[in-house]
Amino acid sequence: MSKFSAYNFAGQKALVRVDFNVPLDENFNITDDTRMKATIPTIKKILADGGKVILMSHFGRPKGGPEDKYSLKHLVKHLYQLLNPSAESASSAGDTTNVFFADDCIGEQAHITAGMLRKGEVLLLENLRFYKEEEKGDEAFAEKLSKLGDVYVNDAFGTAHRAHASTAVIAKFFPADKKMFGLLMEGEVSSAEKVLHESEKPFTAIIGGAKVSDKILIIENLLEKATDIIIGGGMAYTFMKARGGKIGNSLCEDDRLQTALEILSKAKEKNVSIHLPEDSVIADKFDANANTDVRPSDAIPDGWLGLDIGPKAVGIFSEVIERIKDHFMEWPHGRI
Ligand code: 3PG
Repeated sequence: MSKFSAYNFAGQKALVRVDFNVPLDENFNITDDTRMKATIPTIKKILADGGKVILMSHFGRPKGGPEDKYSLKHLVKHLYQLLNPSAESASSAGDTTNVFFADDCIGEQAHITAGMLRKGEVLLLENLRFYKEEEKGDEAFAEKLSKLGDVYVNDAFGTAHRAHASTAVIAKFFPADKKMFGLLMEGEVSSAEKVLHESEKPFTAIIGGAKVSDKILIIENLLEKATDIIIGGGMAYTFMKARGGKIGNSLCEDDRLQTALEILSKAKEKNVSIHLPEDSVIADKFDANANTDVRPSDAIPDGWLGLDIGPKAVGIFSEVIERIKDHFMEWPHGRI
């Protein structure tokens, strides 16, 4: 049994780092709640034990201070609905899980609300990134956060590549028996380990996300193990530009062009095939009402940007995926 499953949270305040970085429309409706749903089993196990849950997350990329559009208050109602799917038919108030919100992630209000939680209740803290200390991995900030819980649970799989105050640094303020992964994180880590250490060749890795800089270590590791690496998402355009392509306004890390070239050349040396999207769905702005078109990923007109892989790329990537046995998927493509 895993550490999390074996732990009895009765009477404990569990400080749970989740990734609630979900997309919202202009009316603050959640357009994809996958990440929230994925953490519900972890939350429910703690509550079922008789514990109290204090959730902390980042949300978007605010510039280091409060901004209404990045407030996690927009998620409270939906979190309540996910935890109380049949709230309308519940026979008494005792059947429902209360969800509270603290409009700061540290400070007096957060402490008082956390301290008043009763077993079976949930508190969502305001966006961690309203403090620039979060992304800087500031120790004093991490320590303040740590004071809110008796036990720390990291279930923020979508943020696992960030060494921030609430994801990596905070762990040092909890003893070994009071810090652990949640069910989502455990499941993802064990699948990744299985693929990386036990996979039968051929093995294909699918990588995406905006930044090559975030993924260098993982790509270098994969170059030792995979036969094929499919690269999509925003980072594909850094590779395209490094190879001399025209990428218009697509995402690009200009200071990583050399890194991208080095990855391509190491892959060649090691006989690993790197597959970049041959074509892209492009748009004239990042907006649901933008004009769209399909172009080769290395011939994107000025003023346009690549936002997804195109139909040829879908065909080629599908063939690669179909002929291999194991996959390591780090990022769903179609999300830059
Ligand atoms: C994501 O959506 O990629 C994660 O939540 C991490 O967000 P970030 O790229 O802003 O750190």
